[in-house]
Amino acid sequence: MSDFVRIHEVGPRDGLQNESGVIPVADKVALIDLLSTSGLRDIEVGSFVSPKWVPQMADTEQVLAGLTSVEGVSYAVLVPNMRGWDGFVAARVPGVTYEVAVFISASEGFSQSNLNCSIAESVTRLTPVVRAAAGAGVGLRGYVSCVTDCPFDGPVAPEAVAGAVEILLAVAPMQLSLGDTIGKGTPDTVGQMLDAVLQVAPAQVLAGHFHDTGGQALANIETSLEMGLRAFDSAVGGLGGCPYAPGAPGNVATGAVLDLVHSLGFETGIDVDVIAKAAEMARGMR
Ligand code: HMG
Ligand code: MG
Repeated sequence: MSDFVRIHEVGPRDGLQNESGVIPVADKVALIDLLSTSGLRDIEVGSFVSPKWVPQMADTEQVLAGLTSVEGVSYAVLVPNMRGWDGFVAARVPGVTYEVAVFISASEGFSQSNLNCSIAESVTRLTPVVRAAAGAGVGLRGYVSCVTDCPFDGPVAPEAVAGAVEILLAVAPMQLSLGDTIGKGTPDTVGQMLDAVLQVAPAQVLAGHFHDTGGQALANIETSLEMGLRAFDSAVGGLGGCPYAPGAPGNVATGAVLDLVHSLGFETGIDVDVIAKAAEMARGMR
């Protein structure tokens, strides 16, 4: 089992998307540029989604134009449909390495609330995006949300998560990030969910995406590590929140994840001092 843990920084997207105040493009770019010098290889920087639904991500095109890309870093954006793909194609800068992330939910309630359609319809919409990305040589990632609990439907069956993973892998091979969207998962429920998912996908293609609403994210990462996962998503400074739990913590903080995995003897290639500086910058943006 590898002793390298890959961190996918999602603060500039999953963190900032929850902030209601205006954050200037220059501030977002400064944060991304600092993160790009930390040793991180994957930074999620925006979304090509409806500006009516997620106003904070409406400037993703300007963010892509403004950032200074660093060799070896892949810049990820969320793309739910072909309209979003067209936006990405218009905005991408030649020579920069990008990853396109598609996303579905394991629960119907969250699918309706997040994407305004059923799970099946969301797959129909993302399939041409996946084909276009593969054809253009752009990296791919898939998210499954609500892997233990849904804010609308309650507890989510592990089999439903495994089913969602199978659906995405049938579209194309990709890294799959398993999202505890509302931070309600516990080592028990995460363990049961992973037991089911590992029946249909190897640990090497899975990432854990834990929101820290319930304060269980680090424990859930430890459980995932024990079950073979070696990739985790986190947000610098614990940016973000949960629209369903006002005042709740956001994604698990990148610094805290680094402290945990380094203390367990894993390598990440990431400079904790740069992440600490970026966390300070991120906190100043809230
Ligand atoms: P819809 O209203 O069903 O879409 O929204 P539509 O196809 O009916 O179009 C309605 C309008 O939106 C039209 O504009 C479209 O052009 C426009 P109008 O003609 O009315 O002016 N539109 C778009 N505009 C820009 N970019 C697009 C786009 N598509 C349509 N791509 C839609 C469907 C998916 C657009 C909408 O539901 C949406 O944007 N949802 C936001 C989803 C989102 O970003 N959620 C947050 C990220 S996911 C997440 O945080 C979870 C994750 O972190 C993992 C975890 O924690 O679990 C990844
Ligand atoms: Mg998330």
